[in-house]
Amino acid sequence: MSRSIVVTGAASGIGEAIASLLLQGGDHVTAMDLDAEALEAARVRSWAAYGQLLSLSRGDVTQSGDVKRTLHVAHARTGRLDVIVNNAGITGGPQALKLHQTSIEDFDQVWAVNGRGVFLMCRTALPLMLAQGGGVIVNIASVAGMVAFPERSAYSISKGAVVMLTKSIAVDYAAQGIRCNAVCPGMIDTPMTHWRLQQPELRARVVSRIPQGDVGSVLDVAHAVQFLASPQASYLHGSTLVVDGAYSSV
Ligand SMILES: NC(=O)c1ccc[n+]([C@@H]2O[C@H](COP(=O)([O-])OP(=O)(O)OC[C@H]3O[C@@H](n4cnc5c(N)ncnc54)[C@H](O)[C@@H]3O)[C@@H](O)[C@H]2O)c1
Repeated sequence: MSRSIVVTGAASGIGEAIASLLLQGGDHVTAMDLDAEALEAARVRSWAAYGQLLSLSRGDVTQSGDVKRTLHVAHARTGRLDVIVNNAGITGGPQALKLHQTSIEDFDQVWAVNGRGVFLMCRTALPLMLAQGGGVIVNIASVAGMVAFPERSAYSISKGAVVMLTKSIAVDYAAQGIRCNAVCPGMIDTPMTHWRLQQPELRARVVSRIPQGDVGSVLDVAHAVQFLASPQASYLHGSTLVVDGAYSSV
């Protein structure tokens, strides 16, 4: 039977690729995103072949009402909520900033989406998963949650919190059959990073720090998520799967 899966931030980049791969595998996917137009564009671009398997949910992961509505829509599709993929994320303002230069507004905004948003999604999904006797959570953190990115403190702090939230859920819910893991992508070419990677000098500087010699693709991350969400990953729990071409190993 098809699983019911929610992917947040699904209208772009990594989230769009994750939703596409899961739909290809025959899962019911509820694609949630803040941006309704971008969701519709992604449906036309990538998901047109999967009519009945796909639901679109315009919603903000920082709003508990939107989170509740989206998760309950997904649950109603098959009577289960099998997997949630917490992918929605933002980096904050475009300028590079150290902690004392980071505005409180910028910190609050990054935290609201990357930290509190993941907390809200998990907090709302867990009772549904407990009631059905299990479920899988995959959180998209970042290598910035393992090694600090220079002048990106708000983002690094928020992604470090996602890694620890993942371990906390793993410890507290293992006995109830709920698995929780994180994926830590390195530099992936998406609309989030495109502005930087389009500039040859900046791209060369980024690539020079990656032992594999190139940035990653959205599919590199989506395949990692597909694996963690699968029964083949049944003993992976509380782990962080790093997808970064060895960037963080140097
Ligand atoms: N691209 C990279 O190099 C990279 C590296 C490490 C981690 N990540 C993480 O991967 C995830 C996806 O990144 P991406 O590069 O695909 O970004 P992206 O900007 O292409 O896509 C992010 C999507 O999230 C949506 N979104 C933003 N705020 C939201 C909210 N409050 N509620 C619902 N949806 C919201 C956006 O509308 C957008 O469609 C993020 O969590 C990001 O931090 C990306």
